[in-house]
Amino acid sequence: MSNVQFYSGEVIPLEMHKVRIVQKLDLVPIERRLAAVNEAGNNTFLLKNRDIFLDMLTDSGVNAMSDRQLASMMEADDSYAGSETFTKLENQIRAIFNKEYFLPVHQGRAAENILSRVYVTPGSVVPMNYHFTTSKAHIMLNGGSVEELIIEEGLQTTSDCKFKGNMDIAKLEAVIAKHGAGKIAFVRIETGTNLIGGQPHSLENLRQVRAVCDRHGLMIVFDASLLADNLYFIKAREEACKDMTIREITRELSDLCDIIYFSARKLGCARGGGICTNNRDAFMKMRELVTLYEGFLTYGGMSVREIEAIAVGLVETMDMNMVNQGPQFIEYMVSELVKKGVPVITPAGGLGCHLNAMEFLSHVPQTQYPAGALASALYLVSGVRGMERGSISEQRDDQGNETYANMELLRLAVPRRVFTLSQLKYAVDRIVWLYENRALVGGLTFVEEPKILRFFFGKLKTTTDWHTALVAKFKADMGDSL
Ligand code: F0G
Repeated sequence: MSNVQFYSGEVIPLEMHKVRIVQKLDLVPIERRLAAVNEAGNNTFLLKNRDIFLDMLTDSGVNAMSDRQLASMMEADDSYAGSETFTKLENQIRAIFNKEYFLPVHQGRAAENILSRVYVTPGSVVPMNYHFTTSKAHIMLNGGSVEELIIEEGLQTTSDCKFKGNMDIAKLEAVIAKHGAGKIAFVRIETGTNLIGGQPHSLENLRQVRAVCDRHGLMIVFDASLLADNLYFIKAREEACKDMTIREITRELSDLCDIIYFSARKLGCARGGGICTNNRDAFMKMRELVTLYEGFLTYGGMSVREIEAIAVGLVETMDMNMVNQGPQFIEYMVSELVKKGVPVITPAGGLGCHLNAMEFLSHVPQTQYPAGALASALYLVSGVRGMERGSISEQRDDQGNETYANMELLRLAVPRRVFTLSQLKYAVDRIVWLYENRALVGGLTFVEEPKILRFFFGKLKTTTDWHTALVAKFKADMGDSL
């Protein structure tokens, strides 16, 4: 995005790319959307793409690639071992992150599997700013537990705190004192903290975490999946970093961490993942598991075409005009919604715009899954698919009791360089309509509830026939079915 001044005074993000390949979209009528949402059991994961207008489920593996990425895929070297393509990526990882050793994996959670198998033992603890679903699952699978040490503002839905993803340093000291450094597998920092609304941490916070870890001989493992957004926020919001280049910020962050892993479905705008480090011992331990679970060391379960695209994508990410696109589109959406009084997570983060379902549907109790109900209602009135990030995404405890989420959010992801501003305007318009008609929306209850990862496969029904009332009001207001 550029800082071009509009004569009208209006502030809107201006794209620094042009569209050269397109995919046709359909906006099916509300009658079809009603049938589709029921077939999907009110679970947006179970909708079919043919029924979706704007897919805001995730930013994972669905970011737009550049012409250079696509071109690079044509020259990929498919050798099982010693692939030239792998060497290209390894060299870019060295140039960007200053890490000598690189291990390829098929996606982010595969890196989490390997890291957890090597470092997490029964009874060990992993302090982190905040968990991500797959990172926590792998730690627990290996007998470890998670301590979330996010600063207080991180869990406040509205705030003017610029770095809600920061770790609370006093809490980190306290956790180390409580368990003893010997029990701590590593300290995990997630950049662009996903589950609290794509909120960033500062470079200064990471320096403080490093100082504590140095005192206690602890390793920092950095989940860099959402690095692109966090880099933008450090440059835009951290006074001391405003004159640094994106490459310089990346290098400073990287130098503070022992191991970096990432999902290249997000970072690098392709599909895959990787782990890098300067620690030879860590590399040797993890290397064995890569060949066991992923594939040989020069592809790690990825297609070589994707590896080429990641190498180019990472270089392209070292550019303010690239990393600012997602956050500035999200900021536009958030500020338009705030103007209309719609409850959203503020300040705007990366990844997507997050509606606060607890407040949006304050009449729907948490037992009836307000974030899930909002996902169902928004799809119905717009064809926009979001992702429930609330209690449905949690798991019941050992006794079968619900563990309610800290926040009930509907995430509307904005994949990088995919949507146009008019499409965002459409989404905002329908969200505002839904907010004005929120009293018509009711709750959900499970009809099929899998024990593990219920948010992927579970099916729910409406507690009352509120879909019918919502459809009737929509048709009356819009004059037709679109
Ligand atoms: N870490 C973070 C912070 C993530 O957001 C994700 C994935 C992963 C790790 C796992 O990576 O999907 O390549 O295995 N987030 C996706 C999402 C699924 O929709 O937010 P993966």
